[in-house]
Amino acid sequence: MATPTTATQLDAIFDRVKRVIPPLEWEIQKPLVARILELKQERNAAILAHTYQVPEIYHTIADIQGDSLQLAREAMDVSADVIVMCGVRFMAETAKILNPSKTVLLPDLRAGCSMANSITADDVRRLKAENPGVPVVTYVNTNADVKAESDICCTSSNARQVVESLGVDKIIFIPDPYLGKWVQSQLPHIQMVLWNGPCEVHIRFTGEQVRELKQKYPGMPVLVHPECPEDVIAEADYTGSTSGMSRWVGDHKPARVALITECTMADNVSVLNPGVEMIRPCNLCPHMQRISLRSVVNSLERMEHTIEIEENIRVRAKQSLDRMLTVRI
Ligand code: 13P
Ligand code: SF4
Repeated sequence: MATPTTATQLDAIFDRVKRVIPPLEWEIQKPLVARILELKQERNAAILAHTYQVPEIYHTIADIQGDSLQLAREAMDVSADVIVMCGVRFMAETAKILNPSKTVLLPDLRAGCSMANSITADDVRRLKAENPGVPVVTYVNTNADVKAESDICCTSSNARQVVESLGVDKIIFIPDPYLGKWVQSQLPHIQMVLWNGPCEVHIRFTGEQVRELKQKYPGMPVLVHPECPEDVIAEADYTGSTSGMSRWVGDHKPARVALITECTMADNVSVLNPGVEMIRPCNLCPHMQRISLRSVVNSLERMEHTIEIEENIRVRAKQSLDRMLTVRI
């Protein structure tokens, strides 16, 4: 039997998020949060949440929070019977690949990814045939069968180190052309065959937009995710993954900062850094936004939607992820 969540516990949770969630909205969210906390006990479930999830998920119901790399690392060690992925499908697949005995739930199957949809396993086989012997480095933002065709995975946190770890002078880097170009700018001696599968959210930022922001707020640091086009990265004071950006804000505590990434993250960073004003040209990821408190309740009540991966694909995809996880950053 689950222990009911007390009013005092809910008040303590609201205290954490009250800077970014208005009290009237919390009144609607509170019963859903309480239900999820009970369902987690009943189902023996752990909730993993990506930094692009709304604060009422990220800061209230999640057991594990982080960027793609942190979620992959932590998913491996979850001991609960059930993993609920508050993120997108490739993240849920990664959890299942790394921890196959768990029931992995994605609350909404429409939570996909433009990047993951841009490339198929056939495409990777063709690239390999065109570039014999050249290793394939695959961003984790891909489907399991694409990972299975790859030599090693990477995330935006470790892409440069993963490429360097191979010690070769040519690689195939898929599917994000901008992350690829950013890595290449740091490793100019390595020839990289790129794929044109950008993120539909980050591709919308422009260098001009960032220059306008800098003019409006002189001296303000600009933090940019490496999925952004080169002219945006050229304007950055810091370029890095979502957790890298979050760490940068925590370490530097600027009076004001621009986060050039999916804009929900600014709310989550703001909760942890109350004195910092966030400037965010607001681009939302429609896939991440599919996950809501209501869909998490439904997911845990109905035990849906379970992620299954064919064993032959899972084992090969795991090799690519395992290789990535041995690279030190
Ligand atoms: P990271 O979590 O690796 O920074 O990636 C951002 C992203 O686009 C996830 O979908
Ligand atoms: Fe995919 Fe971009 Fe959304 Fe991340 S932000 S899930 S890369 S579409």
